[in-house]
Amino acid sequence: MSINSQEFHSESVRALSEQLEEASLTDVLRWVWERFGSLAAVGTSFQGAGLVMIDHAVKAGIPLPVFTLDTGVLFPETLELKTRLERFWGIRIESVEPELSLELQTQEVGPELWNTRPDTCCGIRKVEPLQRKLKELSVWITGVRRQQSDTRQQTRILELYLFDALMERYILKLNPMVAWSREGVWDYLHQNGIPYNPLHDRGYRSIGCMPCTRPSDSGDNERAGRWTGFEKTECGIHTFMGSGI
Ligand code: ADX
Ligand code: SF4
Repeated sequence: MSINSQEFHSESVRALSEQLEEASLTDVLRWVWERFGSLAAVGTSFQGAGLVMIDHAVKAGIPLPVFTLDTGVLFPETLELKTRLERFWGIRIESVEPELSLELQTQEVGPELWNTRPDTCCGIRKVEPLQRKLKELSVWITGVRRQQSDTRQQTRILELYLFDALMERYILKLNPMVAWSREGVWDYLHQNGIPYNPLHDRGYRSIGCMPCTRPSDSGDNERAGRWTGFEKTECGIHTFMGSGI
């Protein structure tokens, strides 16, 4: 259930965003739950920032729904972590899947698209499923951090996007982790004993799909191990709506 422009416009969202910058993580999550209930949901790939956010929500008794985009080519370690986290927190995490199975993608579009047309593959396996999920929501909560890459440095904590130009529907994107550093995230996870992806201890700093994720050097940009060998730096889930308004 996206929102219309009478409810929110760019000035009100900017003002709200500035207020939220000053609030604690728990207060941001409490605000979105009290204002939107389950029309707000956390999207996570089980990397550090998402885990910190969900842990804060669970500890404060804020039952925000959680979903993950399961592309069908995630690492077995990532899938095991999902089950482990569901038990650890006593919550359910919805898996949102592409309409095309990998088999059908191979038959109808081409084999191993990640080697030849990664943008098409991400479109089918990540962007379309996310768009389908976002149709149910007014607020998409992400774990994006400014420090992750050059393209994310201007990210605001609350952003308004045009989701459907034809129907004039908008969606809010809430990024409660924007100001957190990588060190802050990892200190929190270790201090609180939160289960995390074991691939992080094997040199993977940013983890996505198996064919498109490599370990990366600590000196590199955090997301340097993603789509190595291609110009590509974004899968499209954070860019398909253009820039915020
Ligand atoms: S991505 O752009 O490469 O895919 P990144 O791994 O940096 O994203 O994660 C940034 C944020 O995007 C995550 O905190 C999460 O909110 C969202 N995200 C990324 N991948 C997924 C996924 N598979 N399922 C749900 N949300 C995701
Ligand atoms: Fe396909 Fe790679 Fe994109 Fe995953 S990250 S959807 S495997 S191109």
